[in-house]
Amino acid sequence: MKKKIAVLPGDGIGREVAKGAVEVLKAVGGRFGHEFEMEFANIGGAAIDQEQTPLSEKTIDLCKQSDAVLLGAVGGPKWDSLPGHLRPEKGLLKIRKELGLFANLRPVKAFQSLLSSSPLKKEIVEDVDLMIVRELTGGLYFGKPSERRGENQEVAVDTLLYTKDEIKRIVDKAFQIAKVRRKKVASVDKANVLESSRMWREVVEETAVRYSEVEYEHMYVDAAAMKLIHNPKDFDVVVTENMFGDILSDEASMITGSLGMLPSASLREDGFGLYEPVHGSAPDIAGQDKANPLAMILSTAMMLKYTFGFNHEAEAIEQAVDDVLKDGYRTFDLRHTGSRVVGTEKMIDLVVKRVQEDRAIASTMA
Ligand code: IPM
Ligand code: MN
Repeated sequence: MKKKIAVLPGDGIGREVAKGAVEVLKAVGGRFGHEFEMEFANIGGAAIDQEQTPLSEKTIDLCKQSDAVLLGAVGGPKWDSLPGHLRPEKGLLKIRKELGLFANLRPVKAFQSLLSSSPLKKEIVEDVDLMIVRELTGGLYFGKPSERRGENQEVAVDTLLYTKDEIKRIVDKAFQIAKVRRKKVASVDKANVLESSRMWREVVEETAVRYSEVEYEHMYVDAAAMKLIHNPKDFDVVVTENMFGDILSDEASMITGSLGMLPSASLREDGFGLYEPVHGSAPDIAGQDKANPLAMILSTAMMLKYTFGFNHEAEAIEQAVDDVLKDGYRTFDLRHTGSRVVGTEKMIDLVVKRVQEDRAIASTMA
């Protein structure tokens, strides 16, 4: 099959890991007989430098004309002192909003060979398999007003605003996902303090009626943060608003041992999606061939599965990543005594070679 994919590498290590997505897609295309037409465009700091805006109309149009979008990461010290509306992060928020990507799926799964890489005890992290469903186009990130006030600008305001419809569609998505998983939803809020959270609870109650086979509970965000460390196995699907989801997903990444392992999908109602690693542009290690490309590569697998329905192709990538880790190869972030430390490019190469081998598919189809 032929698919058109917009690739937005962005800044810092985003540029290095995006290469991983491209190479792995080429390998998948070669092996499974697909043609992936990839077109590149700017976002974030790179776009500010070249197009004087963190997200140009040209990039938005390319994304709209594509079947899916792959994104590296945005941001860096070079652009940190720009006014809020010109920061690289604005480009990321804008593309999410423009494309209507309200559902951010962040799966957290412990890889068997990385159990000892987590700062948490092995007994706590093994068998963890949870999915954070983060609302992505509302809440504090987008509410207006968001500004400085007062004669000396000594007052600042951000607004946490949700409409019932925005909550309904994300909660419904979470229940749908739970239905084909272990049928458990934990809805995370701060209903003891926030009005928006109390409305969120109402929507969860209304939605749950339509999914009688799915068990659900409400949880305060502070308690959820604690339980993610104390007993993460107990979670199946976690659904929450934008800001809480941002924070909890970085926390949950430590279950896998590194933020460099966490992929994500940002989806629209019709299945169109943007796929990006959960990590940022990591300016401290950018350009040093140190970044872990696996979150980006696993995001590419999510694209194949969620937007294109290419399940075997996605499994071939996941299997390849698993095999490379089993062979002891680690990027800098996951290094430990006895591991075979490799750079970003070498890691990409190892995964590509595995994808090209038939073995990977043979074992997933067995
Ligand atoms: C993420 C990132 C972004 C977010 C930033 C870069 C705007 O942290 O995707 O988790 O907060 O959503
Ligand atoms: Mn984040």
